[in-house]
Amino acid sequence: MISILLPNSANIALAAESLRRGGLVALPTETVYGLAGDALNPAALARIFEVKQRPYFDPLIVHIADRIWVEKLCTDIPDQARVLMDRFWPGPLTLVLPKSNLVPDLATSGLPNVALRMPSHPVALALLREVGSPLAAPSANLFGALSPTTARHVSDAFSQGIDCILDGGPCSVGVESTVLGFGENGNPFLLRPGGLSKEEIESVLKMKISAAPISDVPQSPGGLSSHYAPRTPLFFFEAGKSPNASARSGLLWFGPEPVPSGFTAVENISATGNLREAAMNLFAALHKLDSMGLERILAQIVPESGLGRAINDRLRRGCAPLGQ
Ligand code: TXA
Ligand code: MG
Repeated sequence: MISILLPNSANIALAAESLRRGGLVALPTETVYGLAGDALNPAALARIFEVKQRPYFDPLIVHIADRIWVEKLCTDIPDQARVLMDRFWPGPLTLVLPKSNLVPDLATSGLPNVALRMPSHPVALALLREVGSPLAAPSANLFGALSPTTARHVSDAFSQGIDCILDGGPCSVGVESTVLGFGENGNPFLLRPGGLSKEEIESVLKMKISAAPISDVPQSPGGLSSHYAPRTPLFFFEAGKSPNASARSGLLWFGPEPVPSGFTAVENISATGNLREAAMNLFAALHKLDSMGLERILAQIVPESGLGRAINDRLRRGCAPLGQ
């Protein structure tokens, strides 16, 4: 059993000491819990891949608490990226930028770019400051599984390999950060929809954000079709369609409409139809339904706007069969 610690200053100092020695610590962020290791220590990075059972081709996000690290870790920073950092950091936005030699190749899976993010969770920031250097942190789940939004989700997923879990309470955003790459013209494109909506980014930059260009090189290798999957088979249906309850099925519902009958268990991720609340509740609801020994889970697709894009992305990818 991995110990879950209150995030007081003594425990943050303890966690920082583990990280400096090359150990791993699970930390709360505003999006999901992360599995953190020293981003500048290749041995710690290798341990992250091993513990998560993550393929080496899927690069890690490097977390910082201070903008000074942007200049140290990156070589070329488009103006648009600086505008976004000014406006949205700390927060659920990851920027993929050309890396400097300081960043180990293992962090970027050999790609020439590094993904950078400044989280806003006070415990993540306190730990980063205490360690004094950047931390690589993918979501603290086994590769391909549901993301963790509580300390308990992390301790349920791992039995070893992590020195401790800092408990910062349930994550307030609930879906992973939005990941943006930049084209040669310096304009951003969307690599992963997430906790910061495309509309908010577009309104600050006063331009449309396009999808990532199709290329032979994987732009964001984590964007695999099968990901975020519960163990229970997950199916989705469009809003307005009535789902068919069969024996032992669970329902992930959204909004104020009456819940269809016949389901063994129902989780409404926002009874008021609020997409922010739905994002916050999404993974906890899926974890709960997944723990009930159901035969299948049916999930309602939410409106494709704001945080709805990130929610639908996770639902659709949780549905694809594993191994694709
Ligand atoms: O909210 C978050 O981003 C959470 C918390 C812990 O910060 N972290 C997270 O990490 O979601 P992870 O590893 O589960 O997802 C990282 C995503 C993957 O899709 C990966 O492919 C992409 O970021 N990524 C990382 N480095 C990249 C790079 N150099 N180029 C393109 N995509 C990259
Ligand atoms: Mg992940």
